Amino acid sequence: MSKEKLNLEGMQTKAVYAAKNLNQTSAISPPIWQTTTFSAESAEEFAEIAIATKPQEFYTRYGNPNHAMVEETLKELEGGETALVFGSGMGAIFSAIASQLNAGDHIVAQRNHYAGATTLLKDILPRWGIEVSYVDQTSNAEFADAVKPNTKMIYVETPVNPLMQITDLRFIVELAKSRGGILTVCDNTFATPVNQRPLELGIDTVVHSATKYIGGHHDVTAGAMVGKQEFLERVWKFALVAGAALSPFDAWLLLRGLRTLGLRIERHNRNAMALARFFETHAKAARVYYPGLESHPQYELANSQMSGFTGMLSVELRGGYTAADKLMSSLKLATRAASLGGFETLVVHPASMWSLQLSAEQRAATGINEGLVRISVGLEDEPDLLRDFEQALAEV
Ligand SMILES: Cc1ncc(COP(=O)(O)O)c(C=O)c1O
Repeated sequence: MSKEKLNLEGMQTKAVYAAKNLNQTSAISPPIWQTTTFSAESAEEFAEIAIATKPQEFYTRYGNPNHAMVEETLKELEGGETALVFGSGMGAIFSAIASQLNAGDHIVAQRNHYAGATTLLKDILPRWGIEVSYVDQTSNAEFADAVKPNTKMIYVETPVNPLMQITDLRFIVELAKSRGGILTVCDNTFATPVNQRPLELGIDTVVHSATKYIGGHHDVTAGAMVGKQEFLERVWKFALVAGAALSPFDAWLLLRGLRTLGLRIERHNRNAMALARFFETHAKAARVYYPGLESHPQYELANSQMSGFTGMLSVELRGGYTAADKLMSSLKLATRAASLGGFETLVVHPASMWSLQLSAEQRAATGINEGLVRISVGLEDEPDLLRDFEQALAEV
């Protein structure tokens, strides 16, 4: 059944065929290995598998054929040596950081990260004797100044929630190399490999909340990591005991989502750009945050390291909380819900969502104002989407 391996070039072709050779059945859609354990023929075979790195058929927390198919696809899409899947994006982030750092090490991170990553950096790592410095991700000088002799890792995320700031990935790579090979990890959730490939720019490891665009259908919670063999082997050994394993069915769902990633991202990008341009000229919008707009303060940088600008954007309405709330409750298609990156347009009020993590003063200082609405733009037809926001804004 196995065919000669093709040299896959395009992102959508990779998404469709990268895992084909791992499906050793004649079924076009591969089976789900819904099992926790696998049999061995002899004590010798069992002993061999039990000590192997990432065996696919031993015990599902160690690996599973459904994991392997997603990992192979992501490896091809991101252009890495190898990949791993996890039970959530936080499982991937936690494992990437905690597997590499020891007491006495230092990590440089951004002031803005996904909230769960911020909690890990602020509340957990210091308890383990790991020092953390926070920088403004838009300032290369702050990154350079933060590096110390014991810096082991620079952890970045770009574009970032909800104001879509960009980190200069080429600069981070140069900085890390020039200071003795500091490890670099980038959360690529918002961009996806279709829009941004940090590994090609020299970043060591990419992490994802695969719950978002990789899955794409708001039906699976998962995480992923792509990078170098040596780094990921350490991560795999750590993740075994952290227990952030993905279920075979969820891995199957991820592969199913991945097969249309290129098509979906194209549509997300296009719809988000149309909505960003619509808000940019609307009298009720004070400001639009979208890296694909020339008015974005880091447009040139975004353009230089991204090939598309994602389906995420935020708009600040002139009427503060009342206007934001009215817009969200007047939408007929788009829904008020957390998460992002799926088929349906979702909106949230960041000032409310981040009220636990950030005080009102901190929110104001970072630009998360009461009038801000974050939009995860879905796959709808553009005219329907624009009509929905137009009629909702008319109510504001
Ligand atoms: C950028 C980013 N990274 C990581 C995560 C965490 O992923 P998960 O919810 O799959 O654990 C999220 C979740 O919203 C996210 O937006």
